[in-house]
Amino acid sequence: MPPDKPQGKHAPSQDVDKIYLKVAKALAMAAETSEPYSYGHSERVARLATQIATQLGCPDELLRKVELAGILHDIGKIAIRDEILFKPARLTPAEFNEIKRHPNVAVEIIRPLDYFNDVSPLVEAHHEWYDGTGYPNRLKGEGIPLGARILAVADAYDAMTSPRPYRNRFSEEEALQLIRDGAGKQWDPKVVDALLEVIEQESKILQSLVVES
Ligand SMILES: [Fe+2]
Repeated sequence: MPPDKPQGKHAPSQDVDKIYLKVAKALAMAAETSEPYSYGHSERVARLATQIATQLGCPDELLRKVELAGILHDIGKIAIRDEILFKPARLTPAEFNEIKRHPNVAVEIIRPLDYFNDVSPLVEAHHEWYDGTGYPNRLKGEGIPLGARILAVADAYDAMTSPRPYRNRFSEEEALQLIRDGAGKQWDPKVVDALLEVIEQESKILQSLVVES
């Protein structure tokens, strides 16, 4: 008699990828349900970051990490007090220090899940600045994982084009100009160029759909 087919924990790796993508989305959902302003932010960041990574010609393995890190990047905000998270005014230095904990909190939340081990460095570094003045570790330039440099640009673009408790949303053009201005300072210039390409391609597709309809 042939041996039984392996099941359960021996599931094919593709299924494992799907399962952990769902786990990541569930964690993001848990964090976002208490923060209505950010609803859908993680999925949009994951999608845009994957488009930028594709534009840069990144290998499939990095695309996978960028997508997962995009979904997971802000789950640490679940540990930040609401009065700080939703403060409709400028944060005090102490409050900003509290916000700065969220990348490390996210890393702690996913630490028990070995599958996310190679995604953690991207989550941890998504607020590092290209010029070395970001947080939590003041990484600089190429010392910041490429996936995290991609996430930082996608995160900024989505945050700027979404409303926040303390301001209205920026237009697409305003957001792109702000990100262009920050190239080489907050963001990696070649990642900024890739964002501009992606947005331009998307608007061309949108325009062609309008012309056709
Ligand atoms: Fe963040």
